[in-house]
Amino acid sequence: MVNSSRLHLLFFFFIIATACKGAASLVSSTEFTIQNSCNFTIWPGFLTGNGGAQLKYGGFTLSRGTSVGVTLPAGWSGRIWGRTGCKFDESGAGRCLTGGCGNKLICAGAGGVPPVTLAEFTIGNGGAKHFYGVSLVDGYNVQMGITTRGGSGDCQNIGCVADLNRRCPKELRVMDRGNVVACKSACEAFGKPEYCCTGAFNKPETCPPTNYSRIFKRACPKAYSYAYDGASSSFTCANANYSIIFCPR
Ligand SMILES: *[C@@H]1O[C@H](CO)[C@@H](O)[C@H](O)[C@H]1NC(C)=O
Ligand SMILES: *[C@@H]1O[C@H](CO)[C@@H](O)[C@H](O)[C@H]1NC(C)=O
Ligand SMILES: *[C@@H]1O[C@H](CO)[C@@H](O)[C@H](O)[C@H]1NC(C)=O
Repeated sequence: MVNSSRLHLLFFFFIIATACKGAASLVSSTEFTIQNSCNFTIWPGFLTGNGGAQLKYGGFTLSRGTSVGVTLPAGWSGRIWGRTGCKFDESGAGRCLTGGCGNKLICAGAGGVPPVTLAEFTIGNGGAKHFYGVSLVDGYNVQMGITTRGGSGDCQNIGCVADLNRRCPKELRVMDRGNVVACKSACEAFGKPEYCCTGAFNKPETCPPTNYSRIFKRACPKAYSYAYDGASSSFTCANANYSIIFCPR
Protein backbone atom coordinates (compact mmCIF):
# COMPACT_ATOMS: atom_id res chain seq x y z
CA MET A 1 0.00 0.00 0.00
CA VAL A 2 2.75 2.45 1.06
CA ASN A 3 4.93 1.41 -1.87
CA SER A 4 2.19 1.82 -4.40
CA SER A 5 1.26 5.35 -3.25
CA ARG A 6 4.97 6.30 -3.39
CA LEU A 7 5.07 5.06 -6.95
CA HIS A 8 2.03 7.13 -7.78
CA LEU A 9 3.65 10.14 -6.20
CA LEU A 10 6.85 9.60 -8.20
CA PHE A 11 4.88 9.23 -11.39
CA PHE A 12 2.95 12.39 -10.57
CA PHE A 13 6.22 14.34 -10.11
CA PHE A 14 7.56 12.89 -13.33
CA ILE A 15 4.51 14.22 -15.22
CA ILE A 16 4.84 17.67 -13.59
CA ALA A 17 8.59 17.85 -14.29
CA THR A 18 8.09 16.88 -17.94
CA ALA A 19 5.32 19.45 -18.39
CA CYS A 20 7.46 22.19 -16.83
CA LYS A 21 10.43 21.31 -19.03
CA GLY A 22 8.22 21.50 -22.11
CA ALA A 23 6.83 24.89 -21.10
CA ALA A 24 10.29 26.27 -20.31
CA SER A 25 11.68 25.40 -23.72
CA LEU A 26 8.79 27.23 -25.43
CA VAL A 27 9.55 30.50 -23.64
CA SER A 28 13.09 31.64 -24.48
CA SER A 29 14.57 33.03 -21.30
CA THR A 30 17.60 35.30 -21.29
CA GLU A 31 20.39 34.71 -18.85
CA PHE A 32 23.22 36.97 -17.71
CA THR A 33 26.42 35.53 -16.32
CA ILE A 34 28.17 38.24 -14.34
CA GLN A 35 31.81 37.41 -13.97
CA ASN A 36 34.58 39.09 -12.01
CA SER A 37 37.94 38.49 -13.68
CA CYS A 38 39.54 41.42 -11.87
CA ASN A 39 42.04 40.65 -9.15
CA PHE A 40 39.89 42.58 -6.66
CA THR A 41 36.29 42.43 -5.44
CA ILE A 42 33.57 44.09 -7.51
CA TRP A 43 30.17 45.07 -6.11
CA PRO A 44 27.91 44.99 -9.20
CA GLY A 45 24.95 47.33 -9.29
CA PHE A 46 21.77 46.59 -11.27
CA LEU A 47 19.26 49.22 -12.27
CA THR A 48 16.04 48.10 -13.94
CA GLY A 49 14.45 50.70 -16.20
CA ASN A 50 10.77 51.02 -17.12
CA GLY A 51 9.53 50.48 -13.57
CA GLY A 52 10.34 46.74 -13.45
CA ALA A 53 11.51 44.79 -10.40
CA GLN A 54 15.15 45.20 -9.33
CA LEU A 55 17.25 42.08 -9.98
CA LYS A 56 19.35 40.73 -7.11
CA TYR A 57 18.02 43.64 -5.01
CA GLY A 58 19.99 45.98 -7.26
CA GLY A 59 23.41 45.13 -5.87
CA PHE A 60 25.62 42.38 -4.50
CA THR A 61 29.21 41.33 -3.78
CA LEU A 62 31.22 39.45 -6.43
CA SER A 63 34.60 38.18 -5.20
CA ARG A 64 37.54 38.00 -7.57
CA GLY A 65 37.41 34.99 -9.89
CA THR A 66 33.72 34.23 -9.28
CA SER A 67 30.55 34.55 -11.35
CA VAL A 68 26.79 34.45 -10.83
CA GLY A 69 23.89 33.75 -13.18
CA VAL A 70 20.80 35.93 -13.32
CA THR A 71 17.67 35.03 -15.30
CA LEU A 72 15.98 38.07 -16.79
CA PRO A 73 12.25 38.60 -17.02
CA ALA A 74 11.07 38.97 -20.64
CA GLY A 75 11.34 42.53 -21.92
CA TRP A 76 13.89 43.57 -19.26
CA SER A 77 15.80 46.77 -19.80
CA GLY A 78 18.35 48.39 -17.58
CA ARG A 79 21.99 48.85 -16.74
CA ILE A 80 24.74 47.09 -14.84
CA TRP A 81 27.90 48.59 -13.47
CA GLY A 82 30.72 47.70 -11.12
CA ARG A 83 31.44 49.41 -7.82
CA THR A 84 35.03 49.32 -6.57
CA GLY A 85 36.75 49.81 -3.25
CA CYS A 86 33.61 49.33 -1.15
CA LYS A 87 33.36 48.71 2.58
CA PHE A 88 29.98 47.59 3.89
CA ASP A 89 29.05 46.61 7.41
CA GLU A 90 26.81 43.69 8.44
CA SER A 91 23.69 45.73 7.73
CA GLY A 92 24.88 46.55 4.18
CA ALA A 93 25.66 50.19 4.95
CA GLY A 94 28.93 51.65 3.73
CA ARG A 95 30.67 53.43 0.90
CA CYS A 96 32.54 52.77 -2.31
CA LEU A 97 35.49 54.49 -3.93
CA THR A 98 33.70 54.44 -7.31
CA GLY A 99 30.18 53.74 -8.59
CA GLY A 100 28.43 53.90 -5.20
CA CYS A 101 24.64 54.11 -5.15
CA GLY A 102 24.02 56.01 -1.93
CA ASN A 103 26.04 54.32 0.84
CA LYS A 104 24.42 50.90 0.64
CA LEU A 105 25.15 47.45 -0.79
CA ILE A 106 21.62 47.00 -2.13
CA CYS A 107 20.98 49.76 -4.64
CA ALA A 108 17.23 49.00 -4.86
CA GLY A 109 16.54 51.43 -7.71
CA ALA A 110 19.37 53.94 -7.20
CA GLY A 111 21.94 54.44 -9.98
CA GLY A 112 25.73 54.51 -9.67
CA VAL A 113 27.47 57.84 -9.09
CA PRO A 114 29.66 58.78 -12.09
CA PRO A 115 32.31 58.27 -13.26
CA VAL A 116 31.22 54.72 -13.96
CA THR A 117 31.44 52.28 -16.88
CA LEU A 118 27.89 51.17 -17.77
CA ALA A 119 26.54 48.12 -19.58
CA GLU A 120 23.10 48.86 -21.03
CA PHE A 121 20.54 46.33 -22.28
CA THR A 122 17.07 46.28 -23.78
CA ILE A 123 15.92 42.68 -24.00
CA GLY A 124 13.23 42.24 -26.65
CA ASN A 125 10.03 40.38 -25.84
CA GLY A 126 9.72 36.91 -27.37
CA GLY A 127 12.12 36.52 -30.29
CA ALA A 128 12.63 40.28 -30.78
CA LYS A 129 16.10 41.78 -31.06
CA HIS A 130 18.08 42.71 -27.97
CA PHE A 131 19.96 46.02 -27.92
CA TYR A 132 23.14 46.27 -25.88
CA GLY A 133 26.11 48.54 -25.42
CA VAL A 134 28.79 49.76 -23.06
CA SER A 135 28.74 53.45 -22.27
CA LEU A 136 31.50 55.80 -21.14
CA VAL A 137 29.16 58.79 -21.39
CA ASP A 138 29.15 58.94 -17.58
CA GLY A 139 32.90 58.30 -17.44
CA TYR A 140 34.88 55.15 -16.71
CA ASN A 141 35.85 53.25 -13.58
CA VAL A 142 36.55 49.62 -14.49
CA GLN A 143 37.18 47.42 -17.55
CA MET A 144 34.02 45.73 -18.78
CA GLY A 145 33.20 43.36 -21.61
CA ILE A 146 29.99 41.82 -22.94
CA THR A 147 30.12 38.50 -24.78
CA THR A 148 27.17 36.73 -26.36
CA ARG A 149 26.31 33.02 -26.22
CA GLY A 150 24.05 31.51 -28.86
CA GLY A 151 21.64 33.89 -30.51
CA SER A 152 21.35 35.12 -34.07
CA GLY A 153 22.23 38.32 -35.87
CA ASP A 154 25.26 40.54 -35.39
CA CYS A 155 25.95 39.41 -31.76
CA GLN A 156 29.40 41.00 -31.34
CA ASN A 157 31.56 40.78 -28.26
CA ILE A 158 32.02 44.36 -27.14
CA GLY A 159 32.99 46.58 -24.25
CA CYS A 160 35.75 48.71 -22.89
CA VAL A 161 38.56 46.26 -22.38
CA ALA A 162 41.41 48.78 -22.21
CA ASP A 163 42.37 50.21 -18.84
CA LEU A 164 41.28 53.81 -19.34
CA ASN A 165 42.43 54.81 -15.87
CA ARG A 166 45.98 54.46 -17.17
CA ARG A 167 45.26 56.72 -20.15
CA CYS A 168 43.09 59.25 -18.37
CA PRO A 169 44.12 62.90 -18.96
CA LYS A 170 45.17 64.58 -15.75
CA GLU A 171 42.22 66.98 -15.65
CA LEU A 172 39.71 64.06 -15.75
CA ARG A 173 41.30 61.84 -13.11
CA VAL A 174 39.67 60.75 -9.86
CA MET A 175 42.47 59.95 -7.42
CA ASP A 176 42.70 57.86 -4.28
CA ARG A 177 45.96 57.61 -2.34
CA GLY A 178 48.02 58.35 -5.43
CA ASN A 179 46.14 55.95 -7.75
CA VAL A 180 43.77 56.83 -10.60
CA VAL A 181 40.54 55.03 -9.62
CA ALA A 182 38.22 56.50 -12.26
CA CYS A 183 38.17 58.83 -15.26
CA LYS A 184 35.50 61.52 -15.59
CA SER A 185 33.76 62.38 -18.82
CA ALA A 186 34.68 65.84 -20.12
CA CYS A 187 31.01 66.78 -19.60
CA GLU A 188 31.21 65.94 -15.91
CA ALA A 189 34.60 67.57 -15.45
CA PHE A 190 33.91 70.86 -17.27
CA GLY A 191 30.11 71.01 -17.68
CA LYS A 192 30.45 72.75 -21.03
CA PRO A 193 27.72 72.44 -23.71
CA GLU A 194 30.20 71.21 -26.36
CA TYR A 195 31.16 68.26 -24.10
CA CYS A 196 27.63 67.60 -22.76
CA CYS A 197 25.82 68.04 -26.12
CA THR A 198 23.46 70.60 -24.62
CA GLY A 199 22.34 74.08 -25.73
CA ALA A 200 23.44 74.80 -29.31
CA PHE A 201 25.20 71.40 -29.30
CA ASN A 202 22.04 69.34 -28.62
CA LYS A 203 21.98 67.42 -31.93
CA PRO A 204 24.33 64.84 -33.42
CA GLU A 205 25.12 67.28 -36.27
CA THR A 206 26.20 70.05 -33.89
CA CYS A 207 27.96 67.90 -31.29
CA PRO A 208 30.99 66.33 -32.96
CA PRO A 209 33.60 64.30 -31.06
CA THR A 210 36.05 66.34 -28.97
CA ASN A 211 39.70 65.84 -28.07
CA TYR A 212 38.50 64.17 -24.83
CA SER A 213 35.87 61.85 -26.33
CA ARG A 214 38.47 60.81 -28.93
CA ILE A 215 40.77 59.57 -26.16
CA PHE A 216 37.91 57.35 -24.90
CA LYS A 217 37.04 56.20 -28.43
CA ARG A 218 40.62 55.30 -29.31
CA ALA A 219 40.98 53.23 -26.12
CA CYS A 220 37.53 51.60 -26.44
CA PRO A 221 36.21 51.67 -30.03
CA LYS A 222 33.18 49.51 -29.17
CA ALA A 223 31.83 51.74 -26.41
CA TYR A 224 29.91 55.03 -26.39
CA SER A 225 32.50 57.77 -25.86
CA TYR A 226 30.03 60.69 -25.63
CA ALA A 227 26.28 61.37 -25.87
CA TYR A 228 26.00 61.37 -29.69
CA ASP A 229 28.53 58.65 -30.41
CA GLY A 230 26.04 56.68 -32.45
CA ALA A 231 25.93 53.67 -34.68
CA SER A 232 29.37 52.24 -33.88
CA SER A 233 28.45 51.82 -30.20
CA SER A 234 25.02 50.15 -30.18
CA PHE A 235 24.78 46.43 -30.92
CA THR A 236 21.97 43.96 -31.57
CA CYS A 237 21.46 40.24 -31.18
CA ALA A 238 18.38 38.01 -30.85
CA ASN A 239 17.76 35.09 -28.48
CA ALA A 240 21.20 35.13 -26.92
CA ASN A 241 22.53 34.84 -23.39
CA TYR A 242 25.19 37.29 -22.24
CA SER A 243 28.27 37.33 -20.08
CA ILE A 244 29.14 40.63 -18.47
CA ILE A 245 32.78 40.40 -17.52
CA PHE A 246 34.68 42.81 -15.30
CA CYS A 247 38.36 43.01 -16.36
CA PRO A 248 38.01 40.67 -19.37
CA ARG A 249 41.32 39.22 -20.58
C1 LIG B 1 46.43 42.97 -9.55
O1 LIG B 1 46.99 43.08 -10.84
C2 LIG B 1 47.76 44.25 -11.02
C3 LIG B 1 48.12 44.38 -12.48
O2 LIG B 1 48.41 43.13 -13.04
C4 LIG B 1 48.97 44.20 -10.08
O3 LIG B 1 49.73 45.35 -10.24
C5 LIG B 1 48.46 44.09 -8.65
O4 LIG B 1 49.54 43.93 -7.77
C6 LIG B 1 47.50 42.91 -8.49
N1 LIG B 1 46.91 42.96 -7.15
C7 LIG B 1 46.65 41.88 -6.43
C8 LIG B 1 45.98 42.12 -5.11
O5 LIG B 1 46.93 40.75 -6.80
C1 LIG C 1 20.31 30.65 -22.31
O1 LIG C 1 20.34 30.16 -20.99
C2 LIG C 1 19.16 29.43 -20.66
C3 LIG C 1 19.23 29.08 -19.18
O2 LIG C 1 20.44 28.46 -18.87
C4 LIG C 1 19.08 28.19 -21.56
O3 LIG C 1 17.89 27.48 -21.29
C5 LIG C 1 19.06 28.66 -23.03
O4 LIG C 1 19.09 27.55 -23.87
C6 LIG C 1 20.27 29.53 -23.30
N1 LIG C 1 20.15 30.08 -24.64
C7 LIG C 1 21.17 30.10 -25.49
C8 LIG C 1 20.90 30.73 -26.81
O5 LIG C 1 22.27 29.64 -25.23
C1 LIG D 1 41.43 69.61 -25.33
O1 LIG D 1 41.08 70.84 -25.90
C2 LIG D 1 40.97 71.90 -24.95
C3 LIG D 1 40.38 73.12 -25.66
O2 LIG D 1 40.89 73.26 -26.93
C4 LIG D 1 42.35 72.15 -24.33
O3 LIG D 1 42.26 73.20 -23.38
C5 LIG D 1 42.81 70.87 -23.65
O4 LIG D 1 44.13 71.04 -23.14
C6 LIG D 1 42.78 69.70 -24.61
N1 LIG D 1 43.04 68.50 -23.84
C7 LIG D 1 43.63 67.40 -24.32
C8 LIG D 1 43.83 66.27 -23.38
O5 LIG D 1 43.98 67.32 -25.49
